[in-house]
Amino acid sequence: MNGNEGKKGKVVLAYSGGLDTSVAIPWLKEQGYDVVTMTADVGQQADNMDEINEKAIKTGALTAHMLDLRKDMVENFIWPGLKSNALYEGVYPLNSAYSRPIIAQALVYVAHLESAVAIAHGCTGKGQDQVRIEICANALDPALEVIAPVRDWHMTREEEMAYAEEHNVPVPTTRKSPYSLDDNLWGRSCECGALEDPWNKPPKDAYGLTADPLDAPDKPAVTEITFKKGIPVAVDGEFMEGVELIGALNKLAGSHGVGRIDLVENRLVGFKSREVYECPGAVVLITAHKALETITLAKDVMRVKADMEKKFAELTYEGYWFSPLMDAIQAFVDNTQEVVSGTVRVQLYKGQAVVEGMKSENAIYRYDLATYSDGDSFDHSAAVGFINVWGLPIKTWTRTHPKERVSFKSAADKKLTAGS
Ligand code: ARG
Repeated sequence: MNGNEGKKGKVVLAYSGGLDTSVAIPWLKEQGYDVVTMTADVGQQADNMDEINEKAIKTGALTAHMLDLRKDMVENFIWPGLKSNALYEGVYPLNSAYSRPIIAQALVYVAHLESAVAIAHGCTGKGQDQVRIEICANALDPALEVIAPVRDWHMTREEEMAYAEEHNVPVPTTRKSPYSLDDNLWGRSCECGALEDPWNKPPKDAYGLTADPLDAPDKPAVTEITFKKGIPVAVDGEFMEGVELIGALNKLAGSHGVGRIDLVENRLVGFKSREVYECPGAVVLITAHKALETITLAKDVMRVKADMEKKFAELTYEGYWFSPLMDAIQAFVDNTQEVVSGTVRVQLYKGQAVVEGMKSENAIYRYDLATYSDGDSFDHSAAVGFINVWGLPIKTWTRTHPKERVSFKSAADKKLTAGS
């Protein structure tokens, strides 16, 4: 150390216990800060969660905080996302993207608690997680300085290992995984290694949460999910809190190979990247929720909501979680969810989640209007006047702008023989 420690005040570091954020502790101290760590429990599959605080202190942190954010993450990020059926570019359930604004929130929270002057995170300069954490932190407290040691220290992997050894930071003994992984309650993200060539089939070891659909049970599972105002409250009639409910569906759907997503996506930072996601619970819940909306929402509401859903996903992906547009979209979506209550039955089979049935006390699906059998109450004669009026603009247009549209260049000219 260079004797500068603490001169600049405290910095709150987002700490995972891994090599990068561990090396960041002595590095930040050398820059003149006292280091306080903040580790967020967002439901990641870490087996050493209870040792992380201790490791932070051993590595030189002044104080170490561990925040269990799972419930907040579900209620304030995952449920709003589910209500919005949010899928970036139509497929990615945004699992990693939801955890960044909550981590930013937790960093700011601890910074205020500790009267810190800065926050720090271990993101590199290439991803969007740096963008999300920094923009979200700035949105919550524009006065806090944000430091990104890994982006700034310009060390190669070898230099980082040497620096770690010099500063008594424990270095991992196991070989580094070829992948960059990130996971939480809503799913697991995996990039790098063989995945960087989009021609490569994802290797088996890129997956960690789901069964290969080819190895999944030959017998399907059928599960019933009950929603109240857009939020899932029970699975197979058993009422559960969100954290438990998502966990149960991750396990069940994951065992049937549901939730694997392989996507080349458009990154915010300008290039395309390929990532493999495993989001079994998310896929089942979004599939079921969308289905329930088909019987409960009005047509025009569904159409406008679809536009909002796309915007919601883009804002989340691009770091604008805490923004006026996001607040407005969430207010709109919340309003639509007042009627989205009911139960959806989903079949899970070899990688697919397929809706089998749905019901709701608020359904505006009406059997007597839809049926082609006895009990039909639809006024067939009303169709005549409706078609006259609905088609009038088209008729008018054609009379004014006649255009030859009835010719078949490729169809064979089969002479009519019958009756001639
Ligand atoms: N591409 C995703 C996103 O930007 C996931 C990033 C997760 N990070 C990782 N190391 N796999 O939201």
